[in-house]
Amino acid sequence: MVIDFHTHILPGIDDGSRDTGMTEAMLREEKRQGVELVVATPHFYANRTSIDAFLSRREAALEKTERVRREAAEALPEIMTGAEVYYFQGMGRADGVSRLVVGDTRTLLLEMPFEQWKDGMLTDVEDLIRKQKLNIVLAHIERYWEFQRDRRVWNRVFDLPLTPQINAGSFIKKRGLFHSDKKRRFCMDFLAEHPRLIVGSDCHNMEGRVPNMAGARAAIETELGAGALKDIEKTTREALGL
Ligand SMILES: [Fe+2]
Repeated sequence: MVIDFHTHILPGIDDGSRDTGMTEAMLREEKRQGVELVVATPHFYANRTSIDAFLSRREAALEKTERVRREAAEALPEIMTGAEVYYFQGMGRADGVSRLVVGDTRTLLLEMPFEQWKDGMLTDVEDLIRKQKLNIVLAHIERYWEFQRDRRVWNRVFDLPLTPQINAGSFIKKRGLFHSDKKRRFCMDFLAEHPRLIVGSDCHNMEGRVPNMAGARAAIETELGAGALKDIEKTTREALGL
């Protein structure tokens, strides 16, 4: 089963899909690429909104999306809801974080700061896992790498029992003279070394940040073989309790 674990597909809730028309187009594109289940993970920033307010807005956006699915001419992928929770200091011991998990699992998609990671961040992630008993999926890990001049915290974070997620687009070869292949190489090497990994499109729209699971799957299969895809599917299913 092909699952897109990281998307901004719900309409009008964050910087992702603008309206139900775009949500429908994104769902149709997901389906065309063989995706059967889409996890909707709108951004959650603790300094901008309360968990209650976020969850009620997400519920309203989900209702609109379910109406789109019911009224569509073709069967569109199923939706599960979660959140992409941006790191905040002290979140390891904060109340209510576990309300932001995906569906009725203990799985939380965590977005880390785009800066040099510090010891306090490691402690928080550790507390989320050990004290709050959450299964942490670290969103698009390839986007933090360039900030880790000191790799000490980075290395210790990946020693924790958590699941890294990489964006589909980071596996796809970009055309044109000026695209460096460095990030793609990092992702392929990381996957080869950590086969327990999740891929998500992190799609936001139908223009620049589109659903692109099929391209990533083709690239991974070419470089690392069908077994790598099977491992990713298994890890993703496990994270969702499926
Ligand atoms: Fe995202």
